[in-house]
This record gives sequence, structure tokens and C-alpha cells, in this order.
Amino acid sequence: MATLPTIFVLNGPNLNLLGTREPEVYGSDTLDDIAGQLEDRGRELGVAIDMRQSNHEGHLIDWLHEAQAKGAKAVILNAGALTHTSIALHDAVKAISVPVFEVHLSNPCARESFRHHSFVSPVARGTITGLGALGYQLALDAAARL
Ligand code: DQA
Repeated sequence: MATLPTIFVLNGPNLNLLGTREPEVYGSDTLDDIAGQLEDRGRELGVAIDMRQSNHEGHLIDWLHEAQAKGAKAVILNAGALTHTSIALHDAVKAISVPVFEVHLSNPCARESFRHHSFVSPVARGTITGLGALGYQLALDAAARL
């Protein structure tokens, strides 16, 4: 049987705490809940999901390189606070030809001013913010179809 196209779903710092972390901002779904939702939707769309989380910038960069090396179909990236600080992540997204879809559970532009700038957005294929866990599923639909 031919292998399914793979979509990497990369999550940055503090997203391992979803479910208990500021649920009024980020919702009550855990990262495992979101992974389950994406796997269900991935089966319907005919894509495999490779979901990961790290609190370390370098892991995210290595995984973006790996997505390229392994010929991933797309990357869904919620870089957490690194979104607002990391030129290295910007460069990594720019360095690969795999399309990267930026997702945020909250709407950073409606929050503190230090969240208003994203180093990921200028190099992302598209960005979905403010829709909670649904944003991941919408990004997956887009990644599978575009
Ligand atoms: C976040 C938004 C970021 O500003 C924040 O630092 C996060 C989560 C989101 O999903 O809404 O860690 O990326």
C-alpha cells in the first residue's frame, strides 16, 4: 500500500499544558485531544498526522528541517511565544519549501502588544488565529487541499 502524505503538526513552548493553562484563553482541550481530532480528520482526508510538541526552539527548527527532508506535504505550526521572538524560526520556515500553516488558539492581535508581531506570519502560507482547537482542523483541511 502506498504511504499517505504526512502533515507535521509542530507545537512550541507551554502548549504541553493545554487543558489546564489559562483555559479562558486557550480552551479546555488538551494537546492529546487536539491530536485525536486531527487524526480523525486526517483519516477522512487521506493524510497521516505527525504531531509533536517541544519547549525548546532548536527542536522546532530541527523538525522543520525534517519535514523538508522527509517530503512532508505541509507543516502546521503553533510556535507559542517563539512566534513573537524567534528570527531563527522565521529563517527555518523560509529555508524549506514545505508550506507552513501558522495556527494560534487565541487571537494574539487582540491581546498584549508584545504578541502583535509574528516572525512566522511573513513566511507562512497562511495563518489562522482565534478559533481555538478548531483552527488546527481548519489548517489541516487547508493543508490537505491546497
Ligand atoms: C499562542 C499565542 C502566543 O502568543 C502564546 O505565547 C502561546 C499560545 C496561541 O496558540 O494562542 O503560547 O500561540
